[in-house]
Amino acid sequence: MSEKITIIGGGNLGSAIAEGLLDSGFIHPAHLTITKRTVATIEYLAAKGAYISSDNAAAVADADYIILAIKPFQIKDVLLQIQPYLTPQKHTIISVVTGVWIKDMVEILGTEFTIFRAMPNTAIAIQQSMTCITAFNASNANKAFVTRLFNQLGKTVFIEENLMDAATVLGACGTAYAMRFIRANIQGGIEIGFSAATASLIAAQTIKGAAQLLLERNTHPEQEIDKVTTPKGCTIAGLNEMEHQGFSSSLIKGVVTSYKKIKSQDM
Ligand SMILES: NC(=O)c1ccc[n+]([C@@H]2O[C@H](COP(=O)([O-])OP(=O)(O)OC[C@H]3O[C@@H](n4cnc5c(N)ncnc54)[C@H](OP(=O)(O)O)[C@@H]3O)[C@@H](O)[C@H]2O)c1
Repeated sequence: MSEKITIIGGGNLGSAIAEGLLDSGFIHPAHLTITKRTVATIEYLAAKGAYISSDNAAAVADADYIILAIKPFQIKDVLLQIQPYLTPQKHTIISVVTGVWIKDMVEILGTEFTIFRAMPNTAIAIQQSMTCITAFNASNANKAFVTRLFNQLGKTVFIEENLMDAATVLGACGTAYAMRFIRANIQGGIEIGFSAATASLIAAQTIKGAAQLLLERNTHPEQEIDKVTTPKGCTIAGLNEMEHQGFSSSLIKGVVTSYKKIKSQDM
């Protein structure tokens, strides 16, 4: 692959993206640069052959794709800093910055640039992210490249930008919802006799397997539930009790509450 990528902001997300791209062999290490103001924490990426730098301007000049992975309040200053070194013909911008809209970047960069917004989740650290992507001014080749890039780090789907907040809730907050669900399973497992360690293993692997069944078979959850629920059996008894206690309803209300909160914070 001849394209060069610069990641601005080698923090949690930026360095996880860098590691995934390097470990998967998607990019030659010499074609990847990661920047942050204090580079000591990303020396390990240099050890893998990538360039690390605190000079954003120099790092973007030669890049084809620029991944912005700084905090939302830092994006304006960073864009203003690198803008003089960017041309719409050469540079494509990919922002993973939460809550910063394409129009906000267009305001600074102008309307000529190809810009992507991507919303990954923390499982990107183990190349198992769900990444929702939206594109502006993008050619099919651009879209194919960005899809391949994030496919190295999990699964991808293109969405309209007006669904980005919803994607943040379902895809990124969703990791926390799933963790709480797993934790509750562990607590139940301990009460019925397992050690915490064994309960954790059983709960996490069972939930991973359940998700994998849906992804690989493309079935509806209820179809898989039907296979487990023997008439008059223990599974349906437990499931129905969970529903009587508001299980599905509380999850749906939680998703909607997160969405209302994120919308109330939109500019
Ligand atoms: N973590 C996630 O799973 C996740 C998921 C979806 C979206 N996001 C979004 O991704 C962005 C980054 O999140 P994060 O968790 O990775 O934050 P983070 O760990 O704080 O990383 C931000 C990095 O940016 C660097 N930085 C700050 N100013 C810079 C500058 N002028 N030039 C170059 N680098 C600079 C910081 O390092 P120095 O201080 O050394 O410069 C820091 O390492 C956020 O906007 C977040 O909303 C995160």
